[in-house]
Amino acid sequence: MKATIAVLPGDGVGPEVMAEALALLRVVAECGGHTFTLCEGVIGGAAIDVHGNPLPDQTREICTQAHAVLLGAVGGPRWSNPQAVVRPEQGLLALRAALGVHANLRPVTPHPALMRRSPIKGSLLQGVDILFVRELTGGIYFGDKYRDGDVAFDVCRYSVAEVERITRLAAVLARGRRRHITHVDKANVLETSRLWRETVDRVLATEFPDVQVSHVLVDTMAMQLVTRPSAYDVILTENLFGDILTDEAAALVGSMGLLPSASLNGDGRGLYEPVHGSAPDIAGHGVANPIAMLLSVAMMFRHSLGLHDEARLVEDAVVWCMGQRIVTRDLVASSRLHTRDVGKAVCRKVRELAGP
Ligand code: IPM
Ligand code: MN
Repeated sequence: MKATIAVLPGDGVGPEVMAEALALLRVVAECGGHTFTLCEGVIGGAAIDVHGNPLPDQTREICTQAHAVLLGAVGGPRWSNPQAVVRPEQGLLALRAALGVHANLRPVTPHPALMRRSPIKGSLLQGVDILFVRELTGGIYFGDKYRDGDVAFDVCRYSVAEVERITRLAAVLARGRRRHITHVDKANVLETSRLWRETVDRVLATEFPDVQVSHVLVDTMAMQLVTRPSAYDVILTENLFGDILTDEAAALVGSMGLLPSASLNGDGRGLYEPVHGSAPDIAGHGVANPIAMLLSVAMMFRHSLGLHDEARLVEDAVVWCMGQRIVTRDLVASSRLHTRDVGKAVCRKVRELAGP
C-alpha cells in the first residue's frame, strides 16, 4: 500500500524515539512492499524556537494532508515559564483540534516478564488488559479560559453529540473485547458528568444492548485502578479525567516508556504518539525507551493504514524483546542498552517474523 505519513519529532526525547519509529517504517515497508512517503514538520518548543509558533501553518498543512501523523513529544523546561504566552503544549492541542481527533485510545497491558517493575503487586496485575478511551477535543482543555487579577476560570463544556460519537466508538471497540464499558465521571458534582451519564446510557441501551456499562466516580476509579485493575475492560472518560488516569495506569505496566496511544477522528485518519512526554531529564542521552513510540506505529498500522498483520508483527516483536529483557534501563536498572539497541532488536525481530 501507499501512504503519506507526517513525522513530527518534537522536543526532548521525541527525536530519539522517532528515529527508531522511522527505522521500523523502513523495515516494514521493505518486508511488505509498501511505500510510505514521510513529510517531516516542526512542532512544540522546537517550532517556537524557529517560528515563534508551536504549530506553524506548514506543519498543520503537512498533517491535514497526511493519512496519519506520528508525533514524538512536546514540551520542556526551556519553554515552561508559567508567564509565557506561547507554550509547546498549545501546538499539540491545536493539532488535535485541527485533525478533529476526538477519541484517544490508550491500551494498558502489563507484560509478564516485567511485572516486577510495577510498584503494584504481581498478583493484582494478572489478567490486566484495559483500553482507555479518552475524549480528546472537548471539555476543560478547550473551554473558555479567563484570568483577571486574582481570579481565573476554565470552562468545561460538552455537547450530547460529542459524547454520543465517542460512546459509539468505545462500544465498537468493546465489541472486539470483553463487551464491558466502565464510564468514569464525577456525576455527584458536575453537570457535564450528568450529561455524559445520560448520553452514555442512552446510546448503549438503544444501539449496543450487548455491551454492558457501569458508571464509576473518578475518585473511586483512581483508587480501584491500583487495587483491582483486572476488573476493567474499556474505560471511557472525558478529557481531563482521561489524562490523569492514564498516567496513573502507566504505573501498572512499570514504565511510562511502554504506553502507546492513537487519537482518531472517525474517518480513519489519526495522530499517534507515545503517552510519555518529552522526558527532559533523560533527553539527549540515548537511553529513552522507544517501545511506546514503536507500539504507536503499530497502532497507526492498525487504525489508519489497515495493515493489521504488520501491527501484530510489531507487537509480537516488542513482546519478544521484553521477554528477552532487551529493554532500556527504565525497565531493568542494570541495562546498558540504548534506545538504538532496543529499536534495532525490534526491527530485527520484525524482519525475522515477516519471513523471507
Ligand atoms: C497527554 C499530555 C497532554 C495532555 C499535554 C502535553 C497537553 O499530557 O497527551 O496526556 O494533557 O493531553
Ligand atoms: Mn497526560
